[in-house]
Parts: sequence; C-alpha cells; structure tokens
Amino acid sequence: MDDPALNVRLIYYSYRVSGADSREIEDILTISLERNAKEGITGMLAYSEDFFMQLLEGTAGPVNDLYAGIMGDHRHNRLRLIEYGPAPQKRFTNWAMGVAKLPGFLGTYINRLHGGFYPPAFSPREAREFLEIIRDFQEQAYPAD
Ligand SMILES: Cc1cc2nc3c(=O)[nH]c(=O)nc-3n(C[C@H](O)[C@H](O)[C@H](O)COP(=O)(O)O)c2cc1C
Repeated sequence: MDDPALNVRLIYYSYRVSGADSREIEDILTISLERNAKEGITGMLAYSEDFFMQLLEGTAGPVNDLYAGIMGDHRHNRLRLIEYGPAPQKRFTNWAMGVAKLPGFLGTYINRLHGGFYPPAFSPREAREFLEIIRDFQEQAYPAD
C-alpha cells in the first residue's frame, strides 16, 4: 500500500568508477524506470564524470531495499548518505527516475548558484534544492502530455 505516512526521502552521493561512459547511464536508467515504477519509487539522478548524486523517495521498505542494492553496485563506490528521513509529501511525483548530466546545459546556471557540482560539499538542503532546480527546469523543458 502506498501510505504517505511511511514515505521516506533518501539522498546520497558516490564516486563513479568508469567516468564518462554514457552506455552505463542508459543501462541504469532503463532498469530504474522499470523497477521504480513497479515499486512506487520516484527521484532524480544527477551525474558528472566524477560523481553520482541521487534522490529516492517512496515507501520506506522498497526505498531501503533499493538502496541496499545500489550500495553494492560496482559502477560506483564510497557512497555517502546526505539525507534520510520521513517525507510524507513526494516531490518528484512525475519522475520514476529523472536523469541529468552535469555540468551539461544547466551548468552555467548551477555553477553560479552552487559553485559547481561537488556533492561532498552539499548540505541536505542544498542537495535537495539542487535536484529540485533540475526537476523544475526539466518539467518546463519537457512538459508532461
Ligand atoms: C548510481 C546508480 C543509481 C541507480 N539507481 C537505480 C534506481 O533508481 N532503481 C533501480 O532499480 N536500480 C538502480 N540502479 C541499479 C541497481 O544498482 C541494480 O543494478 C539494479 O537495480 C538491478 O539489480 P539486480 O541486479 O539485483 O536485479 C542504480 C545504480 C547506480 C550505479
């Protein structure tokens, strides 16, 4: 059951192992869209050559199980939790998994706001706001039908 009272939000960052491999991102996105939709999980994955930063939200059980799997994924290492806690209100409802390459076309804007994409320096609030800026930008650029 999708009981909002049990919803959590989890944000982490990690170090990429392979660097600039776009096939890798496609593989992650394909499985994420399918499995997250099934589990009622939504979120956003931002990445650069060096880092991943991902927000996951949904019911605690499925989110925890997914994160346990992601932790063991060899495409990245040195995962660090930025935020974990109750989040009755989902913020990425339209996104089984959004993806954004950084710096990319958002780069100049985001660099000005946050001094570049360097997740180890982000507070929980900065990380969330950063991903929400990407979400808002993408929702304007690619509005839902
Ligand atoms: C940075 C990163 C983010 C990922 N995000 C998700 C995700 O949101 N959903 C998902 O199902 N798998 C995600 N994966 C892939 C999982 O780690 C795992 O490979 C996939 O769920 C298949 O799991 P299985 O081999 O146990 O079936 C991610 C992997 C990485 C490296």
